[in-house]
Amino acid sequence: MSERITFPLMLSVGTAVIGSLQFGYNTGVINAPQKIIEKFINETYFERYQEPISKTTLTAIWSVAVSIFSVGGIVGSFSVGLFVNRFGRRNSMLMANVLAFIAAALMGFSKIAHSWEMLIVGRFVVGLYSGLSTGFVPMYVGEISPTALRGALGTFHQLGIVVGILIAQVFGMEAIMGNDDLWPLLLGFIFILALIQCILLPLCPKSPRFLLINRNEENKAKAVLKKLRGTTDVSSDMQEMKEESRQMMREKKVTIPELFRSHLYRQPLLIAVVLQLSQQLSGINAVFYYSTRIFEKAGVEQPVYATIGAGVVNTAFTVVSLFIVERAGRRSLHMLGLLGMAVSAVLMTIAMALLDQLKWMSYLSIVAIFAFVAFFELGPGPIPWFIVAELFSQGPRPSAFAVAGFSNWTANFIVGMTFQYVEELCGPYVFIIFTVLLLFFLVFTYFKVPETKGRTFDEITAGFRQTAATGGEKNSPEELNSLGADSPL
Ligand code: GLC
Repeated sequence: MSERITFPLMLSVGTAVIGSLQFGYNTGVINAPQKIIEKFINETYFERYQEPISKTTLTAIWSVAVSIFSVGGIVGSFSVGLFVNRFGRRNSMLMANVLAFIAAALMGFSKIAHSWEMLIVGRFVVGLYSGLSTGFVPMYVGEISPTALRGALGTFHQLGIVVGILIAQVFGMEAIMGNDDLWPLLLGFIFILALIQCILLPLCPKSPRFLLINRNEENKAKAVLKKLRGTTDVSSDMQEMKEESRQMMREKKVTIPELFRSHLYRQPLLIAVVLQLSQQLSGINAVFYYSTRIFEKAGVEQPVYATIGAGVVNTAFTVVSLFIVERAGRRSLHMLGLLGMAVSAVLMTIAMALLDQLKWMSYLSIVAIFAFVAFFELGPGPIPWFIVAELFSQGPRPSAFAVAGFSNWTANFIVGMTFQYVEELCGPYVFIIFTVLLLFFLVFTYFKVPETKGRTFDEITAGFRQTAATGGEKNSPEELNSLGADSPL
C-alpha cells in the first residue's frame, strides 16, 4: 500500500525538482549563445575604453562567466547543512529562491546596464542556488518517498537536470532566444521557474522525517504521511522513523568535522564521495560543455543539432533508468553504466584517431558520444545524487550532503576548467584518461558499494553500523547487504 503514487507525493516531488531544472538550465544555457554574448562584451568594452577588446581578455572574461557558476555551486552545496536543520527542507528550498530572483535580475538587466560584471555576479549567484538545490532536492525527495519508490523518485532530480539542459539547448537556438535581442531574456528566464516554485512550495508538505526526528512533532508527521501515502495506516513508516529517531538520540546532529572523525561514517562517506567523483570524472561534462566543439572536430556537419541530439538521448535514458532502477538495483546499474561509458570512450577515441583516413568515422563518433551519454544516465547520472540520502541517517545526512555536493561541484569545476587544455595536449586520445578513471570506479563499485534497493534507511545504516563495530572486517557489499537485511526493525 505504501508504494502508491499519490497526487500530494507527485506534487511535492515535481515542485522540488524545479530546483534541479534550474541547475540543468544554467548548466546548458551558456553554450549556444557564446558568440552573441561575446559580441556584447566586446561592444561594452569599446564603449568604455574606446578600443576593441583583446582576444585574451575576452577569453578570460568568458571563462570566468562560465566557470564561476561552479564556484557558486561549490559554496552553495557546502552550505546545505546551515539551512536544512534550522528551517527545514521545504522552507530552505523556498528561501533559496531569493537567490534565483537576484540572479535573474542581474543577468537579465546586464545588457541594458552595459555591464558584463552583472552577468558574472549573476552566474555566481545562480550557482549558489544550484549548489543548494543539489543538496535540498535529493534530501527532501528521499525523505518523503516510500522505500519501494525511493530510487525511482530520486531519479526525478536527475530528470529535472537533464530536462533543464535540453530546454536551455533548444531555447538557445538563434531562432528562439539565442540572438542579439533576446539573450538577456534567455538568461533571465529562470525568474519564471523561481516564481512557479514559490507558488507551489507552500502547497507541499514539510518532510515528515524532519517533523518527527528533528522537531519531535509526531502528530504533524503522521498527518503529512497520511496525505503523502494516501492511506490512514502509516504505522510501518512511523515505526521506521521512530527507530531512526531512537538511533539519533545517540548521534544527534553530526557536524562535518564529526562526520570525518567518526569511524561509524567512514565507509558510507567514502562511498558517497567516490560515487560523486565517478559521476563527474566520467567526463560527462566534457561532452555537455564542449559537445559542439567535439562534434565539429569529429567532422560532423551540423554540430548544433548533434548537441541537441545528445540532450534528447540524455533525457530519454534518464527516463529508462527511472523505470528500471527499483528492479535492477543501484549497484548493478551503476556498474553497467560505468562499463558502457568506458567502452564508448574507447570507440570515441578510435573514431577521432582514424578520422583523417576514414571519413565515415564521424558517424561512429556520433554513435559513441550518444552511447556514452546513454550509459551515463542509466546509473552514474542519477544514482550518486540520491544514494547519499540512503547511505546516511537523519543525524549525519545534512553534513553528508554538504561533503558529497562539495566533491561533486569541485570535480565538475576541474573538468570544466582543464578539459580544453588537456585536449590540446592529448589530441584525439583525451578520452582515454576518462576510460582509465571509469574502470577504476567500476572496480571500486564492485568491491565497496552495497545494494540499497528496497531497504529502509534504518536497515542500510544498521549494515554500516555493524561493519564499523566489527572493525571494518565485514565490508564486502554482500556482507553489508545481509547485515542490513537481518537487522530488526
Ligand atoms: C549530472 C551532473 C551534471 C551533468 C548532468 C548531465 O546531473 O551532476 O554535472 O551536467 O548530469 O546530464
